[in-house]
Amino acid sequence: MKSKSLVSIDQCSKEDILRILENAAKFEANPNRKLLEGKVAATLFFEPSTRTRLSFETAINRLDGRVIGFTDASTTSSSKGETLKDTILMVSNYADLIIMRHHLEGAARYASEVTNIPVINAGDGANQHPSQTLLDLYSIQKTQGTLDNLTITLVGDLKYGRTVHSLIVGMSHFNPTFNFVAPNELKMPDEQKHFCDKHGIRYHEYTEFDESIIDETDILYMTRVQRERFTDMEEYERVKNVYILKNDMLKNSKDNLKILHPLPRVNEIAYDVDDNPKAYYFQQARNGVFTREAIICDVLNIPVN
Ligand code: CP
Repeated sequence: MKSKSLVSIDQCSKEDILRILENAAKFEANPNRKLLEGKVAATLFFEPSTRTRLSFETAINRLDGRVIGFTDASTTSSSKGETLKDTILMVSNYADLIIMRHHLEGAARYASEVTNIPVINAGDGANQHPSQTLLDLYSIQKTQGTLDNLTITLVGDLKYGRTVHSLIVGMSHFNPTFNFVAPNELKMPDEQKHFCDKHGIRYHEYTEFDESIIDETDILYMTRVQRERFTDMEEYERVKNVYILKNDMLKNSKDNLKILHPLPRVNEIAYDVDDNPKAYYFQQARNGVFTREAIICDVLNIPVN
C-alpha cells in the first residue's frame, strides 16, 4: 500500500484540515505523549531553516520518537553527486518518516513517489509549505474563533512566497476575502489569481500599503522579501524595504486583528510592533509544534485521543 504523504495543501479536504486542527488543539493541551515510541523520523534539510526543522524535531521528541537527518547537504553524499532519488531510497532504509526541505519545486512530490514511507514537505522552492499553512490556519482559528468569512491581507513577496501560495489554497474552504499588497515586481502570480477566480474567492490588489487596508483586516500576514529567490540583486535591492509595518499604523485597526508572519523577519515589521498585543508571530511559531505533532500522527495513521 502506498504511504500517506503531505506534499501540498491542496491534497487536504476541509475535513482533513479540521481534523488536523482539532488534533493540534489536543496536543496543545497535552503535548507529551508516547505515540512515536520505536519510530525514527528523518529530517532532510537541503535549505536553511530554524522554525520548521526545530518545531518538527521538538514534535518528534515530545511524541517519544527519534530523529536522524542533516541540516547541511554539503556534508552528505549529495555533494559527491548522489541523486535525490538515491538519497531518499537510502534514508527510507533507516527511517519511518521523511521530513524534507528542498530548493527545487516538486522535490517533495518526487520523493513521495520514489519511497514507500510518508514524506512531509517542509518547503519546496517557491512552491508549497503545507505544514506552515496548517499552523497558520490553527493560529487563525485560535485567535479569531473561526476560519469563516475573514478578511486576510497578504503583504510583501507574493511572487516567491510559498507560505502565501499555500495559505490561499488552505483558506479556500472558508470563504475568505484577500487583499494582496505587493510591488509590481513581486505581485501575486496569475496561477494563484486563477485559483481564486475558479473558487469564487474575492481578492483586491494594491501596490501601496495603506492604513485603510489594515483597518478592514482580520489577519495581517506579513512576509519577508526573500533574497535567496532573486537572480537579479539590483531588483532585490529595489524592493527589499518596500513595506515596513510600524506600530502607529495599527491605531485604527480592528480589535480582533492579529499580525502573522511565517518568520524569519528582516525589516518588514518594526520592533515596536512586537509589544503590541495584536502581534502574534511568536505564538504562531509556537503553534507549529502542536500542529506538526498532529500532522506527523496523521500521515502515520496514529489515532489521537
Ligand atoms: N517559517 C519558516 O519556514 O521558518 P524557517 O525557514 O525558519 O523554517
